[in-house]
Amino acid sequence: QWKMTAFIENTVAEIRRKVGNKRVICGLSGGVDSSVCAALLVKAIGPQVACIYVDNGLMREGETELVKHTFRDWFKADLHAVDAGERFLTALAGVTDPQQKRKIIGKVFIDVFKEEAKSIPDAHFLAQGTLYPDVIESGGSPDGPAATIKLHHNVGGLPAELGFELIEPLRDLFKDEVRHLGTELGLPEDVVWRHPFPGPGLAVRCLGEVTDPKLQTIRKADTIFLEELRKAGWYRKTSQAFAVLLPVQSVGVMGDGRTYESTICLRCVQTDDFMTADWSRLPEDLLARTATAIINRVKGINRVVYDISSKPPATIEWE
Ligand code: XMP
Repeated sequence: QWKMTAFIENTVAEIRRKVGNKRVICGLSGGVDSSVCAALLVKAIGPQVACIYVDNGLMREGETELVKHTFRDWFKADLHAVDAGERFLTALAGVTDPQQKRKIIGKVFIDVFKEEAKSIPDAHFLAQGTLYPDVIESGGSPDGPAATIKLHHNVGGLPAELGFELIEPLRDLFKDEVRHLGTELGLPEDVVWRHPFPGPGLAVRCLGEVTDPKLQTIRKADTIFLEELRKAGWYRKTSQAFAVLLPVQSVGVMGDGRTYESTICLRCVQTDDFMTADWSRLPEDLLARTATAIINRVKGINRVVYDISSKPPATIEWE
């Protein structure tokens, strides 16, 4: 507690000294790290920081609203929320290859971010929520070993060509310290304890081509799963949990009729570092309730399966 108060005081002083009266852009994804980074900057320099949040149309239910509410209404931050969903979906139309999808999303993200950054002409610094493990894992470069397996994309990976001087106030912290810091800064529990969410968002959980109806299906199933986990007290016991829409249709029966509909796969893992992971041994009745709720409430789904693969050899995400 005392250590955290001291950390905040020192870091705030350091940010003020470094920034002077210049403006700072902070990339905000809605995740824990970037949210804590933004909250810290708002505390340090108030209206001198402009937060850019890109809504790529690939976010989960209510996520964009939570970011807007937290930063605009509660922190009174200068939040630039860019509604770019259509642009991303148009660029993704017809694309099925996972690496290609990731590449496109990364590129459109940088374009949109750059354009928005131009509307903040006097900005000199870019703040990123890089943590200590990110620094080590990437060996100081954005192309760590993970990049060869999947092209990672996140707000922490904006290219140097944007021409800003970097501020990384969380560079010395581990995840649990960042959560404490977030709580201390007054971020809602929902944000502080949020599971990680990949930069390419639901696109990597929508196997094959990404379309708006598919995204809506995933959102509904995902919301039901997370609600059931929270109700059962399992959300904080797991590292990451989500629904994946498989490109598979199968036969079912409803009333007197035959159905031929899609499959939702539930994925839930335990891990310390996300480099290796084990599937969560969720209680059977929790899985049963979730499956029934999804099949009853999500149109177009007649089958739910649970992923019992560990990483390696499977990865956490399906794409
Ligand atoms: P995998 O699927 O490689 O994922 O086992 C490990 C962790 O990384 C997250 N992930 C990403 N995070 N940008 C991110 O910021 C990405 O492109 C990305 N891809 C995967 C994944 O959700 C898991 O937590």
